[in-house]
Amino acid sequence: MTKVLVATVKPFAPAAVEGIKKNIEKAGYEFALLERYQGQEELKEAVKDVDALIVRSDKITEEIIQAAPQLKIVVRAGAGYDNVDLKAASANNVVVMNTPGQNSNAVAELALGMMVFQARNHFNGKAGSELKGKSIGIHAFGHVGSLVAKIAQGFGMKVFAFDPFVKKEDIEKHNVTAVDTVEDLYSKCQYISLHIPANPHTINSINYDLMMRMPQGATLVNTARKEVINEDDLIKVFEQRSDFQYISDIAPDNKEEIAEKFSGRFFFTPKKMGAQTAEANINAGLAAANQIIKFFEEGDTTFQVNK
Ligand code: 3PG
Repeated sequence: MTKVLVATVKPFAPAAVEGIKKNIEKAGYEFALLERYQGQEELKEAVKDVDALIVRSDKITEEIIQAAPQLKIVVRAGAGYDNVDLKAASANNVVVMNTPGQNSNAVAELALGMMVFQARNHFNGKAGSELKGKSIGIHAFGHVGSLVAKIAQGFGMKVFAFDPFVKKEDIEKHNVTAVDTVEDLYSKCQYISLHIPANPHTINSINYDLMMRMPQGATLVNTARKEVINEDDLIKVFEQRSDFQYISDIAPDNKEEIAEKFSGRFFFTPKKMGAQTAEANINAGLAAANQIIKFFEEGDTTFQVNK
């Protein structure tokens, strides 16, 4: 019997797990669950007889793939698939998919939520500032970026975007000003909201030059991946600009240094929280289950990312 394992260190909401189980069993497959596992050894043991895997940010390395001789498909229930070794998957004839757009609203809401929290001094009682009238630059205008733009417009912000992979006219349909270069985006916007994936082109790409371009009252908002920030440059910018703030869904590796030196100018979630809503879990989890069923039943590879 085809066996589908949901392996999540950070569990889905119970309603999402129930929905996935129901759909998998209705399709006639075996459902298995491994939540909050303690390390790669436990995951390795659990994958040895599975045909399909549903994961979140769980690390699917070459070792895990090789420990699963029956594995045919891995679906990352979410957007970013930098946690899956695509090369190893392809080499072992394993299809990898993501579920684009399914958890985007949760991430977009968190971006704006963190912005309000920071602008109001973490609700400490001191007068803060409003988002209305401020400029925000959306760095990459995909599913999350376009939702952040929409919510920011609701706050009365001036919205700009840069995305070399999206036509200017498609950005402008959202009443967002599309700019031609990334430098221009950072030069224009007090807030920058990051929505780029982590890959060899983007890792460490948010550097001193970009951060220093931001106008007075700069706040960098990161609900993407911590790896895209050049952390040495971040410290330099914090040191040279007393107005600079950084808020991020998951702390940078040098968080102790930042906490020690730049009190009040940062906020980091203790665990990655962007997609952590019941709605996002249900949307992404069910999409993952349905994509697996369509793959086995119809050979559908619509959301494959390792073609
Ligand atoms: C994503 O890439 O979909 C988000 O970063 C959410 O990741 P998570 O499923 O690990 O919370």
